[in-house]
Formats: sequence, structure tokens, C-alpha cells
Amino acid sequence: MKTLRFREMQDENDVAGYLRIHDAVWPKVSMKFWREWTKREEVTMALALMDEKVVGALPFHIRDFYVRPGVTVKAAFEFSVVVRKDLRGQGIGSKLMTIAKRFLKGRADVMMVYRGGELTPGYNFYFKNEHYDVSYPRPRILREPRDLVERKVKITEIEELYSRENEVLKVFKSAFYKFGGYPERNIGYWRRALRSIIYQELPQTFKFFYIEDKGSLVGYAIIGKSRGKHLISILELATLNGRKDLAAQLIASVSRFAARNRCAVRVNSPDFSLYDDVLKKAGFIGLPRWKSSKIIMAHIVDPESLAGKIWRENENLKNVKVSAWSPRKQVVLHHAETHAPRKEIMLEMKDDILTRLLLSRIDLVSAVKQELVTVVKGDVNDIREVAYSLPYTPWEHHEIDYI
Ligand SMILES: CC(C)(COP(=O)(O)OP(=O)(O)OC[C@H]1O[C@@H](n2cnc3c(N)ncnc32)[C@H](O)[C@@H]1OP(=O)(O)O)[C@@H](O)C(=O)NCCC(=O)NCCS
Repeated sequence: MKTLRFREMQDENDVAGYLRIHDAVWPKVSMKFWREWTKREEVTMALALMDEKVVGALPFHIRDFYVRPGVTVKAAFEFSVVVRKDLRGQGIGSKLMTIAKRFLKGRADVMMVYRGGELTPGYNFYFKNEHYDVSYPRPRILREPRDLVERKVKITEIEELYSRENEVLKVFKSAFYKFGGYPERNIGYWRRALRSIIYQELPQTFKFFYIEDKGSLVGYAIIGKSRGKHLISILELATLNGRKDLAAQLIASVSRFAARNRCAVRVNSPDFSLYDDVLKKAGFIGLPRWKSSKIIMAHIVDPESLAGKIWRENENLKNVKVSAWSPRKQVVLHHAETHAPRKEIMLEMKDDILTRLLLSRIDLVSAVKQELVTVVKGDVNDIREVAYSLPYTPWEHHEIDYI
């Protein structure tokens, strides 16, 4: 009988073994890229081996993920998961998940994946393995972009962005500081992001659109165009302090560029996001979820560590112990400073709600009203105080972050 083993990847043989099954499902990636990519400390894989041959793999890219102002957690993003065709549907994928949940503890707080297709087997695989929806960046399409005159926006190669990353970072932060939902930005981010696995699998040509005011950058858009496709994606759009007038100018310029290249334009962003009204005014139509969807799904790996990171200090709960219970997880959200807490509040909920709570994705006061969360030993004021410490935060999405 053939033996099946599961473990974390170790060496270049594992990488070569993975690439063989990867290329049978996903667009080909060069061995050179894979060797360099998997050498990074933040990249790893759970492997299934049959008689020492790789037959399944679940790769991760561990990123600093910005959840809300001042709070960054470690998120292990799953991508290009694959089990050899003849072995699917026998629990190998789920076992890879189980093994990864174990070895990621201490290295990641949460596992995340960008998914679509809520009725597909792929979506079901993650859901079955306790991944829950936490954000819906809706694909929005501008099918017939217009060739509008727009003179303030300059269009250059992407190298211009790389040479001005200080300014780009400043503009990005001024626009999106208040929102969570994306890998943290820092100098070097854009270069790394545009060389990520997805752009190896699906190569694109990038352009940098930008606006200056007295020589300083005040807004930009990064666009990508896949070869042979009549589609341009806005991978990231940001303006100083989120200014809408600048966003409208950038979108007009992207439209013009798209019209001249006979392409449609796509941008993924949640409903009512920062530039929602600008996009609607420019003619972008959001696709309904039954037609096409983009979802961030999450599985909490380490609830205690995550709770420690996201809890906002609150003088009024100093000596109160706050816990959360779900059928699968129990977690102390906050320890009282004294040995004998003056009160113990217990919040009860299902696992999907707990996942949202620990990622600042639920308004606790409303959730209690709606009985999505039930409360043991706590009154309405207590809930308001806990909601202060675990505040809801709107999330934004930038397609450039796709892995
Ligand atoms: C997705 C995948 C890694 C799951 O591995 P697996 O070993 O088949 O997974 P398990 O046996 O543990 O779980 C099976 C579940 O995964 C889902 N699934 C997804 N693709 C599947 C496939 N081709 N065959 C069988 N199940 C599949 C099913 O919904 C199934 O759930 P069910 O048992 O309730 O029907 C594997 O099917 C695969 O390699 N698919 C092709 C690549 C892919 O679609 N990846 C999507 C993730 S981005």
C-alpha cells in the first residue's frame, strides 16, 4: 500500500515536486522564480507526499495585514493550492489544512484567501475547512470607457513609481489610513507586489498614472493589462487625503487610455468604499455576486494572539475579564489586570461571527441587538465598552494585493 505523509516543505526537492503538480492546474511558473520565491522567510507550504513524491500542496505567503488603524496582524495568504487530479475528494486537501493550522501557530494569527464563485467546489473547500467571508470587494466594470480629454494626469512606465515610493506611500496612507483590509504598505512594497506569483502566472504590462501639484505627487493609479485581453485593471488608486476630484481625474485618464486601446476597465472594491461615488459617476457597474464575486475568506489560527493584538485599551474594562465562546473556539479577549476581576463578560457566537469580531469586521452593539452575539453576565453599557475595544472598521481592497 502506498504511504501518505504530510509535513511542511523543507528543501528544493519539495519545490521541484510542487511545481510538477502546480503546472498541471495553474499557468506555468519558472523554476527560477519558484526557487527564489520559496526561499523567502515569509513563504512556506504544507505538503502531501506519497512514497516521497509530492501529490498535494498548500502554499502560503505570510504578510503583515492591516486590520484597522494601528493594528497589523500576521496573515498567511493561501494561493495556488493543488492536489493531484486522481487523488482529489479523498480528504488530502483538508489534511493539508489541518497540518498547516498546526505549523502556522506562532507564525501567523490568521489564514486568508481571495476567493470567488460561492457555489464552486473551490469555495466549498475553504468553507468546509472553516474559512469564513470577511469582506466582499465587488468587481466593477466600465464596459465602454470614453475618450475624455484629461490633461493633468501623466502616464508613465511603472519604474517612475519605484523611484517615487516615498511620495506614493504618503499619498496611500493619507487616503487609506482609516481603512483596514490590505497588506501593510512600506517602501519596497510595490516592487515586491508587482513581482508576486500572480503576475508570474498571468503576466501583465503595468502603467503608472499620476497627478502632481507643484511638483509633489497628489494622486496615482496603477493599471495592469494582461496580454491578449481587452481588459485593463486598476490595481490601486489613491489620492491625497482621499480627494474625490483627483480620483475623478485619474479615472477619466484611465478611461481615455482604455478607450484608445479598445479595452474595458475593471476595479474591485467593496460597496460604499472610498471612491464608490466617483466610480459610479464614471459609469462603473458593480457585478452581482451570482455572476462574479471576490471575497476575502479568513480562518483564525491563533485566537489568543489575535485578541491580544486587536484589543484597544479601555480604562473602563481594566478589571473586567472578557471572553468569547463559539462552538469550536474559546478565547479570552481581555484579561483583568487584577487577580480577581470585578466582572466577567462572556460573548457567545458562531465561528463566522467570531472570525469577524477578531478582525474588526462586525459592529458588536448591532450584532448583540440582532442576536448574532448573545451575552452572559453583561449589560448594555458593558457591550458598548467592549465594542469600543473591538471596533468595527471598514475595509478597502486593492487588486495589486492579490497573491
Ligand atoms: C481544491 C483542492 C485542493 C481540494 O483538495 P481535495 O483533496 O480534493 O480536498 P478534500 O478531499 O479535503 O475536500 C474535498 C472538498 O473540496 C472541494 N473540491 C474542490 N475541488 C474539488 C475537486 N476537483 N474534486 C473534489 N473535491 C473538490 C469539494 O467541495 C469537496 O467538498 P465535499 O467533500 O463536501 O464535496 C483540490 O480539489 C484541487 O487541487 N483542485 C484543483 C485546484 C483548485 O481548484 N484549487 C482551488 C483553490 S484556489
